[in-house]
Amino acid sequence: MKVVISLGGIFFEDAENIKKVAEVLEELVKSCNLYVVTGGGEIARECIKIARDLGANEAICDYIGIALTRVNAKLLISALKDAVYPEPFSDYKEVAEGKAVVEGEGGEAKIAVMGGVSPGYTTDAVAAILAEYVNADLFIDVTSVDGVYDADPRMYPDAKKYDKLTAKELVALTMKEELKAGSRIVIDPVAAKIIERSGIKTIVIDGSNPWNILDAVHGKHRGTEIT
Ligand code: UTP
Repeated sequence: MKVVISLGGIFFEDAENIKKVAEVLEELVKSCNLYVVTGGGEIARECIKIARDLGANEAICDYIGIALTRVNAKLLISALKDAVYPEPFSDYKEVAEGKAVVEGEGGEAKIAVMGGVSPGYTTDAVAAILAEYVNADLFIDVTSVDGVYDADPRMYPDAKKYDKLTAKELVALTMKEELKAGSRIVIDPVAAKIIERSGIKTIVIDGSNPWNILDAVHGKHRGTEIT
């Protein structure tokens, strides 16, 4: 089974969280081929804000965000040690050309970690494209909220959560969002369009307990399923 995971930047704010996520991934890789894309989190947003204050345009701000997602990819690799390819991938083809799914020296499949790729979207879209490229069986978007809502639940406490959503509905919902560097959106519109065209099974879950990821792979989750 091939599983692509988009890990929001929130998980990279301290060593303890990274260790917890790494533990789950090491368990998962025993039974799946795993591809993990790391987000940039608050530190990316802070650097983007500084760049914007200095007059940088959105594309430059995006590149700054990408740099931070790659730093987080290196942090995750540091925690995973032997279960992982030593450098983050920056190209979908390299991951897909079998390099990421060969057997490791100990006979265990290795985890491929990737950060951002190019301006104009977020690591959700990178993960969705990777999922499409490798023909993944499942795409899990791990975020700091427990699913997709009709408005940001951190700002609108009455926001309604969707247990299930069609890809078309997800596209309609995300198209309303602003796609500026460092935007706070649960899934970006590019990712939504890729999910729609690829038809890859997608689940959006809360990762505050990283073991939720393992449950989601086994079909148990309380997030949002994109059908
Ligand atoms: P993230 O993927 O972390 O944004 O990329 P996010 O998903 O909104 O945030 P978290 O981490 O889940 O909270 C950070 C920023 O880096 C740029 C964008 O500006 C994005 O907002 N980025 C990232 C790109 O331009 N291209 C990429 O491929 C990845």
